[in-house]
Amino acid sequence: MRLNEDMAILEDISSTKEVLTPDDPFQRIVGQEHAVTLVRSAVKQRRHVLLCGVPGVGKSMLAKAAATLLPEPKEQITLRHNPLHPNRPEVVLEHLDTDQGQQEAPIVLDSVYFRPDNLPFDVAVKMGYRCSRCGSLSLPSQSVCMECEATKRYEWIIGETDNTSFSGLFRTLELIGEPALTTVSRPESFNGVPVSATYERSQDDTILVRYVHNTSEPQTSRGEFPDHVLVSRTSRRFVRASGASPVELLGDVEHDPYGSADSLGTAPYLRVVPGAIHEAHEGILYLDEIAALGPYQKHLLTAMQDGTFPIAGRNPHSSGAAVRVDDVPCKFVLFGACNVEDLHKILGPLRSRIRGYGYEILLDSWMTKTSETVRDTVRFIAQTVREDGRIPHLDREAIFSVLKIAETMAFQLDGARNALTLRLRELGGLIRVAGDLAVQESAENVKSSHIEKAKSLSKGIEGNDSRSIGQKSNMPQSNYGDYFF
Ligand SMILES: Nc1ncnc2c1ncn2[C@@H]1O[C@H](COP(=O)(O)OP(=O)(O)OP(=O)(O)O)[C@@H](O)[C@H]1O
Ligand SMILES: [Mg+2]
Repeated sequence: MRLNEDMAILEDISSTKEVLTPDDPFQRIVGQEHAVTLVRSAVKQRRHVLLCGVPGVGKSMLAKAAATLLPEPKEQITLRHNPLHPNRPEVVLEHLDTDQGQQEAPIVLDSVYFRPDNLPFDVAVKMGYRCSRCGSLSLPSQSVCMECEATKRYEWIIGETDNTSFSGLFRTLELIGEPALTTVSRPESFNGVPVSATYERSQDDTILVRYVHNTSEPQTSRGEFPDHVLVSRTSRRFVRASGASPVELLGDVEHDPYGSADSLGTAPYLRVVPGAIHEAHEGILYLDEIAALGPYQKHLLTAMQDGTFPIAGRNPHSSGAAVRVDDVPCKFVLFGACNVEDLHKILGPLRSRIRGYGYEILLDSWMTKTSETVRDTVRFIAQTVREDGRIPHLDREAIFSVLKIAETMAFQLDGARNALTLRLRELGGLIRVAGDLAVQESAENVKSSHIEKAKSLSKGIEGNDSRSIGQKSNMPQSNYGDYFF
C-alpha cells in the first residue's frame, strides 16, 4: 500500500484534531486483538496471564486496562495484636457486606482438665461439688451437704446477692434447691491476659476448662492495641511490582530499635508491611519483568497455589526477624510480562501453573497494513497528542510521514512487508519530539518537516555520531537507528 493509497483512506482527515479517540482503555489499544480478547476473559474468570512481547507494544497498557474490569474488592485484611504471642499477630479477614467483618471463631488459648477438688471455690459451689457453708466436697446430685446438712447452694447465693435487700432475699429463695450448673463461665486471667474461662462438667466428674480469648470484641475496646489495617477495602487492587526486591513482593516486618522493650517499642503487629502479593488480594498483581524475579519465582508460585503467604521479617539482623504472620491472604490474578528471550528464565512449574490456570499470550510487534490498521495508527497519533497535552495536532502531511515511518519500522525491525509497526512507544516518542519542535517554532500544527527533523533527533545514542561514543561497530543492535533513515 503506497502513499496515494494512504491518502485515499484518509481523504476526510486534514489533521489529527478531527480524529475521535475512545476513552475505553481496551479500545485505545491498537492491534493486539487476540491479546485483548484473551485478557478480557482472563479477568472475568480470574485466570493468570503471561504477556510476552518486545518492549513498547502495549503489555502494561493491557494489564492496566484489565484492572478496569475488576469488581470492587470485598475484603479487608486486618492485623490484630496477639497478647499471648506478640510476635505472631493474628490476621482477620473482614468482608465488605458485613459491619463486623467475618464471623470469627473464638480463639481457645488453652484447655485443661480439672478434678472437682482443684476447682476454684465459687465454681465448685456453682457446679454442686462443694457446700457453700462448710466447703466439704460431695457429688452435685446431692443437694444437701452430708457434713453440715445445709442446702448446698444457699449461703453462696446469700453471699453473692445483696442480703440486706428484699430483692436479694427473694432471689435466694428462688434458687434454693436449684440443680447444680453443668457449665460455668467467668472472667479470669490467663498468663496475664484477660480471658473467659468456661468450666464444663463431663460424665466422669472431671471438668474441662477452656480459656477463650474473644476476638469478636469491638475494636473500640481494644484499648492501646487498635487493629492495624494491612490492606484496606478501599485500596487500589492493581499492584505493579518490579520484583527486584523480596520485600516489595512478599512484605516485611520493620525494625524497631527498642526491640522487645514492650513499653518503649512499637508493637510487632504495627510493624508488619504487606507485600505486593498481599496488596493485590482480589485484584491484579502486575509483574513487569517476571523473569527478573529469579529465585523468588518459587515464592510467587507458592502464593498462587495457597492463596495465602506469610509475612516475616526478612533482615536476619533486624528485630523484625522474630515476627511472623501466617496465612496472610493473597488471592491475586497474576499478570506477568516478559520478553521472548527471557521466557526460559521463568521457572517451569510457574509457567505450567500459568498455562494450566490461564493464558500465555504473545503480543504482535507489527500488523498487516489495511485501511483499518492505517486508521488505527492515525488514531494512535491522535491519542498520543491528547495524552501529552502539550503538543499540537499533526497536519495531513505529518500523518503520512508517521505512517511511512511505521511501515519502515515494521520492515526493518521485523522483516514485515506491507505492514505497520506496533512498537508504538517508540513511534509515540518520535511524535512527541516532533511536537516539541513545533512548539518551539510556535507552529499551529506538527508538520512533515518536524517529523523529518525528529527522525534524526530521535535516533538513540548508538545512531548518533560515533566519534562521541567510541566504536560504533561495538555498540549493541539498537531499536532506534537506521529505520528513521
Ligand atoms: N498496542 C498499543 N496501542 C496503543 N498504544 C500503545 C500500544 N503499545 C504501546 N503503546 C503506547 O506505548 C506506551 C508504552 O506501552 P506499554 O508500556 O504498554 O509497553 P510495554 O509492552 O509494557 O513495554 P515494556 O516491555 O517496555 O514494559 C503506551 O503508553 C502507549 O502510549
Ligand atoms: Mg511495560
